[in-house]
This record gives sequence, structure tokens and C-alpha cells, in this order.
Amino acid sequence: MTDLSHSRRDYDSEGIDSATMPAAPWEQVSAWVTEAIAVAESTPQHDEPTAVSVATVDAEGAPNVRTVLARFLDDRGPGFVSSRHSAKAAELATNPRIALAYTWPHLFRAIRFRGVAEAIASDELQTYWATRPYGSQIAAWASRQSHPIESRAALEAEVARWGARFPEGSAEGVPMPEDFCGWRVSADEVEFWAGRRSRLHDRIVYTRVGDGTLADPESWRVTRRQP
Ligand SMILES: Cc1cc2nc3c(=O)[nH]c(=O)nc-3n(C[C@H](O)[C@H](O)[C@H](O)COP(=O)(O)O)c2cc1C
Repeated sequence: MTDLSHSRRDYDSEGIDSATMPAAPWEQVSAWVTEAIAVAESTPQHDEPTAVSVATVDAEGAPNVRTVLARFLDDRGPGFVSSRHSAKAAELATNPRIALAYTWPHLFRAIRFRGVAEAIASDELQTYWATRPYGSQIAAWASRQSHPIESRAALEAEVARWGARFPEGSAEGVPMPEDFCGWRVSADEVEFWAGRRSRLHDRIVYTRVGDGTLADPESWRVTRRQP
């Protein structure tokens, strides 16, 4: 047994209050993500500030969760890229409901989004694809994500095969594979969590009441939830 009972760190953020928060969640989302990135850049051990947990459900309603990197963020919601071969793709095709959480324990902060997944448009994906390093582009061709493979050697053979097909430094570059895809979370609930002393944390929740973006003050109702 691993004894975890000694984990007794008290959280001590400055806290949040609806009275001083914007009427719509976007400004706060943007501020916290920007701050988490800035902190990560000055403290290398916190090096993936845009890592998020993404939850979906399968056809039987069983939940699934995995970590991805949020690669898109604007007032339509956070987005990420993946593969159409993946388990998450199959699950979202059956049920587009999705939850996504940023967690920054060292900042005593988290943001949760609940809503539906919307496919990211091909032109946005292409723009992102062009920023990917060569090795990551070849990996996307080589991996049939979430499917079994007999060995690491077999995976590396696929990498070599696709590397030969699209050589590094060629003028044409590496095209984006058909199965490369992405989703954005169109949220109907956004929760900001700020850790406070003695587990009396602050939770400020924005609930959708209109059709606007995360930046539209008419589209959100703000409430405080108990910790
Ligand atoms: C820090 C971190 C970042 C990751 N980033 C991505 C990503 O951006 N996209 C992705 O598809 N998988 C990413 N993964 C791998 C996923 O966690 C997961 O293994 C993969 O997407 C398959 O999930 P699925 O079988 O539930 O579809 C990342 C994993 C970690 C730990």
C-alpha cells in the first residue's frame, strides 16, 4: 500500500469573487492561461501549462479521460488536435458531450469546461499543422492512434516508412494526414477554482444563458458554489 495520508498541503491563493470578475468568462480564462504560461516559462519544472484533461463517454456511457495539449484558445473555447483513429474520436462521434480541465496545482488554480465538442475547421488545422516539427508530422502519419501494435520496433518501422515517403527538408513539406483532426469545446458551463486555506476554496461558475461566445456578457449567469 502507498500511504498518501501525509499529503496535507494547504492551498493559499488570493481567491476569486464574482463581484470582481468579468460578466463573461473569457477575460478570466485568457488571464489565467497567460499567467500559467508565463510562470511555466520562468520555472521549467512546470513545463506543460496548456496540458488539459479531456473527458468523453463511450457508447455505453462509460467515461474516459486523457491528457492532451490545448493548441487553440479563443472566445469560442479551448481546442486540441488528435487523430480520427483514436478512442476519443469514436466516442465523440457517438456522443459529442465533452469536459475539459486545466489544472495548475502550483498556482492553486483550475478551470473546468463542460459542453459539446465541435470539429476544428480544416484551415485552422492546416495553420497549426504547419507549426509542427517534422518529427511530430511524421509521427502523425506513422501512428494509428489508440489501435494495438505488436512492438515498438513495428512503430519505428512505420516512422521510417513515412519518413522515406516524405523526406525531411523537401520543398513540398509533409502534408497533413486525412485522419489529423481537432475539436474545440463549446462550453455551457465554465468553472474557476481557486484553492484557499483549510479547504475553503473559491468556486465561481459561469452558466450559459444565451448563444454568445465566452466573451459575451449577455450569455452567462455567474454563481458561487460551495467548495
Ligand atoms: C502531456 C501530454 C500531452 C498529450 N498531448 C496529446 C495531444 O495533444 N493530442 C493527443 O491526441 N494525445 C495527446 N496525448 C496522449 C493522450 O493522453 C492519449 O494517450 C491519446 O490521445 C489517446 O487517447 P484515446 O485513446 O483516449 O483517444 C498527450 C499525453 C500527455 C501526457
